[in-house]
Amino acid sequence: MVIETTRSAPSRADWEPRYADRAARLQTSEIRELLKLLEQPDIISFAGGIPDPELFPTDAVRQAYDQSLGDDTRAGRMLQYSISEGDPDLRHWIASHMASKGIDCSAENILITNGSQQALEFLGKLLLSPADTALVTAPTYLGALQAFSASEPSYDLLQWPMGNRSASSYGEAARAAGGAVKLAYVVPDFANPTGETMALEQRRALLSLASELDIPVIEDAAYAALRYDGADIAPLQALDVTATGSIDASRVIHCGTFSKVFTPGLRVGWICASRQIINRLVLIKQASDLNSAAINQAVILHLAETLFDTQVARARQHYRTKRDAMLAALTKHMPDGIQWTKPDGGLFIWLTLPPSIRSADLLQRAVKDASVAFVPGHAFYPDASGTNTMRLSFSLPDVPAIGRGIEALASLVKSAG
Ligand SMILES: Cc1ncc(COP(=O)(O)O)c(C=O)c1O
Repeated sequence: MVIETTRSAPSRADWEPRYADRAARLQTSEIRELLKLLEQPDIISFAGGIPDPELFPTDAVRQAYDQSLGDDTRAGRMLQYSISEGDPDLRHWIASHMASKGIDCSAENILITNGSQQALEFLGKLLLSPADTALVTAPTYLGALQAFSASEPSYDLLQWPMGNRSASSYGEAARAAGGAVKLAYVVPDFANPTGETMALEQRRALLSLASELDIPVIEDAAYAALRYDGADIAPLQALDVTATGSIDASRVIHCGTFSKVFTPGLRVGWICASRQIINRLVLIKQASDLNSAAINQAVILHLAETLFDTQVARARQHYRTKRDAMLAALTKHMPDGIQWTKPDGGLFIWLTLPPSIRSADLLQRAVKDASVAFVPGHAFYPDASGTNTMRLSFSLPDVPAIGRGIEALASLVKSAG
């Protein structure tokens, strides 16, 4: 039998009109695309906000994997499907870790996620219907905007200082956008991208706004362990648990991660929230990926039990030195009229140029002429404003490179001004 084949090339389907509305809103992240270009060895990159691999506890990870696969029975468990809520022992460890921050909770208040990025996506799915409003800061963590955007929300901006704008005005704006205010999202400690920390009175004011609007507050604590100066400020969830009397009555949903302290590669994060919320999120977890890898949870538990405090101390010392180097270089080289934040922790400094300089244009020249990279700040604004801002991360380059990179960037800024 002869099967006829068509000679002409099949016409390519145009997929765009076939996508669901939520998929059409997913845009390529400029930053993630940029990061791909920056793998040239000679670039001094202040762009990627990623942990320094020098700090990864590689030997301990290796040992923990060996131990987990050591005998066949244990290996069989480690390589099997596992429960969606996450490993009970790891959830216990996290619950006591949360208790040490003033959040009295049990393992039942914890869901293990594949990094806190998955937590944000699940919370978008749980809380936002199309046209609902999410309150965010401007600038804010780009990954949160990406995670929420699949739920097709509108964004409204939290105004600082909190309390300057009435709860009713947020409600009216949300109704005008076709929905209701459904959540507020903040990174209270050493925020990505600004490095700034919310003062205690701002935290209280946010909780009181959330109470007036009767909405949940998502507290993204990704960098909370990386404090280099000053004293810890109570997490929003601790303040709210104290005010309401129990985690199960709290409106705050806390997202934590092991990515910044140990390694992002194992993809282990968590959500701490009321049992009611956790029970519903477990269903989303099941539908999404059934469970986080049992073996990665076991490795993280081993690291947490044996190394957590030592590793936090190492990371603090390591990044403090780099932060200090970047602040000193900025002071030494940047011309008058340029402002930048002085973060007490985290991985980022936020720099504001005169309004006439577009940081996206500067980036092109910085990469081409000076082999220096950063992230243009507009990427972190829901409305792509902030065109004269930039995020500088001090996590990856060594101290001499930080000095050289900032000096080169400052001379470009001078010539652009
Ligand atoms: C503020 C913030 N939240 C969450 C994340 C996600 O981290 P992970 O999914 O590795 O826990 C990041 C990563 O950079 C971040 O900066």
